[in-house]
Amino acid sequence: MSDTILVLDEGTTSTRAMRFAVDGSCLGSSQQEITQHYPQSGEVEHDAAEIWQRSVDVMRAEIEAAGGVENIAAIGITNQRETIVFWDKRSGEPLAPAIVWQDRRTAAICDRLRAYGHEPMVQRKTGLLLDPYFSGSKIGWALENWPQLKAAGEHLAVGTVESYLIFRMTGGLHITDASNAARTALMDIHSGQWDDELLGLFGVPHAILPQIVDCAGDFGRTEADLFGAPIPICGMAGDQQAATIGQGCFAPGDTKATFGTGAFVLSYAGTSAPLSAHRILTTIGWQLDGVRHYALEGSIFVSGSLIQWLRDQLGMIVEAEESEALARSVADNGGVTIVPALSGLGAPHWRADARAAITGLSFASDKAHIVRAALEAMAHQMMDLKTAFAADGVDWSQLRVDGGMVSNDWMVQDLADILQLEVDRPDFIETTALGAAMLAATGAGLYPSLEASAAMRRSGGAFTPKMQDAERSARLAQWQAALASVLAQGA
Ligand code: G3P
Repeated sequence: MSDTILVLDEGTTSTRAMRFAVDGSCLGSSQQEITQHYPQSGEVEHDAAEIWQRSVDVMRAEIEAAGGVENIAAIGITNQRETIVFWDKRSGEPLAPAIVWQDRRTAAICDRLRAYGHEPMVQRKTGLLLDPYFSGSKIGWALENWPQLKAAGEHLAVGTVESYLIFRMTGGLHITDASNAARTALMDIHSGQWDDELLGLFGVPHAILPQIVDCAGDFGRTEADLFGAPIPICGMAGDQQAATIGQGCFAPGDTKATFGTGAFVLSYAGTSAPLSAHRILTTIGWQLDGVRHYALEGSIFVSGSLIQWLRDQLGMIVEAEESEALARSVADNGGVTIVPALSGLGAPHWRADARAAITGLSFASDKAHIVRAALEAMAHQMMDLKTAFAADGVDWSQLRVDGGMVSNDWMVQDLADILQLEVDRPDFIETTALGAAMLAATGAGLYPSLEASAAMRRSGGAFTPKMQDAERSARLAQWQAALASVLAQGA
């Protein structure tokens, strides 16, 4: 019997299929870009039909590379979270654009709900805050503003991206896993069920939502004609939760940061849900056999997307990899600081209205300073999270990092320096996909437990702090001044 796991990692900017052997080695990978649509300032949309087609294409490419469908034991799916898809149950076709997690169009709705005093209830039940980031307000807005959704009546289905992909792959199974459901702000994370009070608050009918299930198990099979024969789908999790698994964060306090489009820190918290007093989120890490495992999360909206913006919109670099050499080419940032609030600020500030700033420019500034300041912004944002987590009693003793950006040694060393912490980088940095493979391998019975599937991961090297205190203090003071100017706008 084959023991190869096929993972679909559907991220914000690309969708990728990867094959893993049961020992965790990556056997192959195929990737396609996802088109970003920006209809207006603050709005970000995807075409769910494109997500579906490109996901199928990359999966087919990997199945072919595996020598055929008979060589695939199971599928694991991991996905950009909070992004919400609206489709017709009869055809599976999208009825409207997918509203992406970065989209800020519901900021006013969230402000109004906060002004009416609903945030404590939302936080108590969901572990989240009132912010346009989460799916609930996006669904409510779409139902009000896109008449075709109401017109679809009982045929309307709504779900996060993994839910849509599973619906299409299986020909009609409408499910979502608990880690993705936890990001909608419609689920009570303590009971694991959709909550009527939250549904009422955001104006979302229960009937359009999927059934909430575990993150590993035998969820269903792909339709026979999709890949040539049915393949069991055995693992599902939001990408940040999958990365937490892939980093082996199974003991309370184990903490990881993934640097993808955004940067997301999750600290494993055990089987009872902590509540933050410092605007950190509580989320479901994963659910297995009905038991929910929780994590504290700090969500930073912009990390790799800042480098992409310097490349694509400003043309400062041709390849993201150039950023490391440019950062090293200057002795310091030359007084330049970037506050990358390109889609508002997430944790711990939660300012949907904030706009980015580049401060400290002079005629002596050149693009190397700006690129270096962009990389430094990663450590600065992380430092704000570290402080907020510590105030909640979660003092990081080490940080495990992953995601495409951490191939940049300069950035990882800067993280260690600014956080004054050992930063551990695994051998294989695509930890999100590895975590989905671990879930699918567990769900397929290739490992007896999720903890046992940690045999699939290998540790890498550690970066330790080297920076002098005076330099670090000056950097942090410069960041705090720039951040204060951004937070003062519109306050
Ligand atoms: O919550 C948003 C997150 O899931 C997006 O992940 O990998 O696209 O940065 P990524």
